[in-house]
Amino acid sequence: MIETVLLNNHTRMPRLGIGMNHMENEKAVITAINSAVTAGYRMIDTASSYRNEEYIGQAIAKCQIPRRDLFIISKVWNTAQRLGDTAGAFERSLERLQLNYVDLYMIHWPVPGCYGATWDELAKLSTSRAVLAIGVSNFEIRHLEALRKASGIVPAVNQIECHPLNYNKELIEYCQSNGIEVQAYAPLAGGACLDEDIICVVATKYARTPAQIALRWAIQKGLSVIPGSSNTDHIRSNADIFSFEIEEEDMAILDTMSRGYRSAGIPDDLKDIPF
Ligand SMILES: NC(=O)c1ccc[n+]([C@@H]2O[C@H](COP(=O)([O-])OP(=O)(O)OC[C@H]3O[C@@H](n4cnc5c(N)ncnc54)[C@H](OP(=O)(O)O)[C@@H]3O)[C@@H](O)[C@H]2O)c1
Repeated sequence: MIETVLLNNHTRMPRLGIGMNHMENEKAVITAINSAVTAGYRMIDTASSYRNEEYIGQAIAKCQIPRRDLFIISKVWNTAQRLGDTAGAFERSLERLQLNYVDLYMIHWPVPGCYGATWDELAKLSTSRAVLAIGVSNFEIRHLEALRKASGIVPAVNQIECHPLNYNKELIEYCQSNGIEVQAYAPLAGGACLDEDIICVVATKYARTPAQIALRWAIQKGLSVIPGSSNTDHIRSNADIFSFEIEEEDMAILDTMSRGYRSAGIPDDLKDIPF
């Protein structure tokens, strides 16, 4: 059974979802979503920049799961932020997804000079029925503090890269003490976690896969996770992370692995500017 968490706007979010980045091909999208819903997933993470919202919309329409039982996430990309076109970008996402609301809409990256105004746009959207919760992604403490000072609305979620090779304890604790749910993206470090000796040793001890150990580590840190996969067996086994516990001493060993490794790069348009 996939656990859920109550967000600060009183909506419930599953703690496991399917990540849809790197899936631009219709067949991969349909396989991933069908396999995920069959395995019990109800949360789907996408973004306009993943260029697959249309296929995801088609898969959702056919998947036989009532809309109210699904939790759909999308994000506004940097270009729309710079153009002041967040509301337009949101409408286009809804249209591609064939939906009349999303459960969570996020600022994909804190574009300097823009993200404050984008947040105000998201706040406006959240007063309509078209968005149930609003959140951010790739925000550091300084960005969250800037939002806190400028806006009365606290993001429901901050989606950040997090896995044993990149554990930003300070940011996670800041979010958790301010009512912001942390969602770990690339929770397998894009696959780089899976060959790490320490993770493999822990996996053997618990008779689990390395992926299950990395995902369970994040769950025990109080995070939600959105592993990406278009492989039915991987999708199924990645969901089996709520029926075992990693002991504290092994969690401490996994904590020693963090070395700031990033599998998802910084977008080109933010590379040469401090943000
Ligand atoms: N907000 C942001 O800026 C941002 C940035 C990056 C990603 N994301 C989100 O996070 C999601 C996940 O990130 P990601 O896909 O880059 O990285 P990831 O989830 O860490 O890793 C995905 C890779 O791991 C493999 N994999 C998955 N489960 C496996 C298993 N049980 N055993 C072996 N290999 C396994 C997948 O291959 P197979 O297909 O073969 O399983 C794929 O190559 C994205 O899809 C996206 O939704 C958000």
